[in-house]
Amino acid sequence: MRRIAIAVVASTMSLSLAGCGMLGASENSSSATPTRSNDVTVGVLMPEKTNTRYADFDYPIIKKKVAELTQNKGRTEYANADGEAKAQLTQMQKMIDEKVDVILLDAVDSKSIAAMVQKAKDADIPVIAYDRLAQGPIDGYVSFDNELVGEVQGRTLVEAIPNVQASDKIVMVNGSPTDPNAGQFKAGALNELSGRVTVAKSYDTDKWSPEVAEANMTKAIEALGVSNISGVYSANDAMAGGIIKALKAAGVSSGDLPPITGQDAELAAVQRILSGEQFMSVYKPYPSEAEAAAEAAVAKVQGRDLQFDALTRDRVDSPTKKDIPAKLVTVVALTKDNLKSTIIADGIYKVSEICTAKYKAACQALDLI
Ligand code: GAL
Repeated sequence: MRRIAIAVVASTMSLSLAGCGMLGASENSSSATPTRSNDVTVGVLMPEKTNTRYADFDYPIIKKKVAELTQNKGRTEYANADGEAKAQLTQMQKMIDEKVDVILLDAVDSKSIAAMVQKAKDADIPVIAYDRLAQGPIDGYVSFDNELVGEVQGRTLVEAIPNVQASDKIVMVNGSPTDPNAGQFKAGALNELSGRVTVAKSYDTDKWSPEVAEANMTKAIEALGVSNISGVYSANDAMAGGIIKALKAAGVSSGDLPPITGQDAELAAVQRILSGEQFMSVYKPYPSEAEAAAEAAVAKVQGRDLQFDALTRDRVDSPTKKDIPAKLVTVVALTKDNLKSTIIADGIYKVSEICTAKYKAACQALDLI
């Protein structure tokens, strides 16, 4: 899946062509898609609401960038499927019926959406898969490096277990089986965990549900005994919240929780990192992903093929399409040590949002306030 094309020379060339005004010349002449005005409509389909990133960051950033790229003439149309694959089919059909110019699709179910992607193609509406690699004839893919997400989680977990030994038992709580990212997170994590710890229990989690994660963690505790669990791999923050509830219900105090991973840098998770309840999260710089997607979508509609190509120099394969032009953004482990240089520096949260009364002492200790 991860085949990164190193094409620095070519990308510099096309940027300098753009700088000389030559890009405009080639756009207007022989390009297959004629150049369009700024009056574009970008359909944006997001997958769920339990996880706060989509409504708080992804969509607002895309919306703002589309406006900026089109001198406020372009607009976005937004729908969130709230974890329901069927709802997303209806939402996408509606956008096709309304003849939006391009669709950014973050699929609930990457497989069952493929027929709808084909319908969009038949209606001449380009589809760019966003964050999750939808199947079907997509035109491009903008995401984070998802295998790297899993590697970062796995490596940080191993390093957090004191005097770690291969016999140390960990519980693995993975994401939704209909989300291809979940499989990549798991594969990346296993690269780091295998041979260094023992994965004693492993679960997939329907719809990334924190309640399902909590119930599975309760089962793992019953089977293994809470004192035999050296760490928990949770694929995201919302599920880490459920897992911590299960551990507390089994009598573990806040200060005695084993290292637990997460992903998404949700505000509640950042506060758990401060209080020591959650060891880490993965910070995915949403502005980089969302702005790149907006740029690719607008370039595609406006027929600026060279710009689209320059933005999507990586290549990925889906089960139904090979060599998909892609952009994969890198990620970082988020721990107590780098809150300042990541989420705070990027303006994801204000210090005042993170450092509420309950977290004041922890914030002072880290020099955040
Ligand atoms: C993934 C996404 C993550 C997280 C997760 C749970 O597909 O890449 O950032 O949002 O879904 O909802």
